[in-house]
Amino acid sequence: MCADKVAKLSVNGKSYDLPMMSPVLGPDVVDIRKLYDEADVFTYDPGFTSTAACKSAITYIDGDKGELLYRGYPIEQLAAQSTHLEVCYLLLYGELPTKVQMDDFKTRITRHTMVHEQMHYFFRGFRRDSHPMATMVGVVGAMSAFYHDSLDINDPWQREVAAMRMIAKLPTIAAMAYKYSVGQPFVYPKNSLSYAGNFLHMCFAVPTEDYVVNPVLEKAMDRIMMLHADHEQNASTSTVRLAGSSGANPFACIAAGIACLWGPAHGGANQACLEMLREIGTVDRIPEYIAKAKDKNSGFRLMGFGHRVYKNFDPRATVMKESADEVLELLGIHNNPTLQVAKELERIALSDDYFISKRLYPNVDFYSGIILDAMGFPTSMFTPIFAISRTVGWISQWKEMITENGKIGRPRQLYIGPKKRDYIDLPNR
Ligand code: CMC
Repeated sequence: MCADKVAKLSVNGKSYDLPMMSPVLGPDVVDIRKLYDEADVFTYDPGFTSTAACKSAITYIDGDKGELLYRGYPIEQLAAQSTHLEVCYLLLYGELPTKVQMDDFKTRITRHTMVHEQMHYFFRGFRRDSHPMATMVGVVGAMSAFYHDSLDINDPWQREVAAMRMIAKLPTIAAMAYKYSVGQPFVYPKNSLSYAGNFLHMCFAVPTEDYVVNPVLEKAMDRIMMLHADHEQNASTSTVRLAGSSGANPFACIAAGIACLWGPAHGGANQACLEMLREIGTVDRIPEYIAKAKDKNSGFRLMGFGHRVYKNFDPRATVMKESADEVLELLGIHNNPTLQVAKELERIALSDDYFISKRLYPNVDFYSGIILDAMGFPTSMFTPIFAISRTVGWISQWKEMITENGKIGRPRQLYIGPKKRDYIDLPNR
């Protein structure tokens, strides 16, 4: 609270003083918690464009500056100097680890990478053509049926074990979903590899050949994971917090987050974006799609553009673009049609008045899809990779919520349905 600041609200001629709160960074916040009790009114904010639903010390975004900080560290510095696993530690525990802490953390994650052998049968129950996100929602939710010793949310040790299990096992589960969809045998995790390298290994190794992880692709995958690791109160994170506020077990909460992430306005945008680039097909068709994106009645949006918070370049997109250039160079991909369309679309959108005036810049998903496509992933795996990466963010935010706030999340509403009326028997209707 900041005692010297107060917001004044006048409702039906009566005036109310609302306390103000000052964050470490970002705009002041009007505390309306007692508004209903005192003034008998609710606030209306669908989409939460002006509502802070929690306090958090994890991630900060300045959308106007195009700035993203994990525990205070700029994403550009982390992308240049850190690794995804180190960032996992930072997000979970608040500080960068010492060497001893990092070694211990790596060991703890590595020892949890295998899934219960019985879970293999789960996969076999799905159709081979299931979307891997559908499989992941099911299998991650089902983890609560396997790991009974990490379900008690009131026990800090169990919360910790649940966190390790999910960070460690989500790549294994996503890779298994992929292998199952292409009819190949599951590949067990290899603990000598890095977190990102192990994921590539589980996706692309086959029993008949040696698989050597390419260090450039490993680094690019690590960066994709790190850049997606957390993004404060986005839709899936808010879903995890809301689910967790009821006391639901951690695996159920993360499954809820995965389900929410799948939507094309959120994590599903990376798949939708690449499919859009392929549908456009050739550069000469871009104007047609730009016109469609500007036409409100078309219902079409340029996927991979725009963001609720960033009204300047998405800083993750800047790093991702560099990574895309490195990967394409390594793989000798210079002029494939999808890439040509992407480059031209980016150029046109960045110089078009509609996109400039609405501050719609390419976001992280515009470039991540290009990298993942070049690596050989089918588009259906793009969002599962986002889910693996965001798992640490979801868990960090879930842990923060459990320890700081005992209140169930329960929004109010502006009711617009019928007034109270009497039931009429079927023959008289
Ligand atoms: N193409 C064309 N017009 C757009 C787009 C777009 N991609 N995004 C926003 N607009 C227009 C929108 O029609 C509206 O116009 P008007 O003011 O005339 O009504 C204006 O820009 C503001 O849009 P909004 O829907 O109010 O903005 P929002 O903050 O609710 O939506 C968004 C943010 C990301 C959902 C939206 O920009 C979008 O749908 N983008 C495409 C999907 C996408 O790439 N999503 C990935 C986001 S980054 C990864 C993640 O964090 O999940």
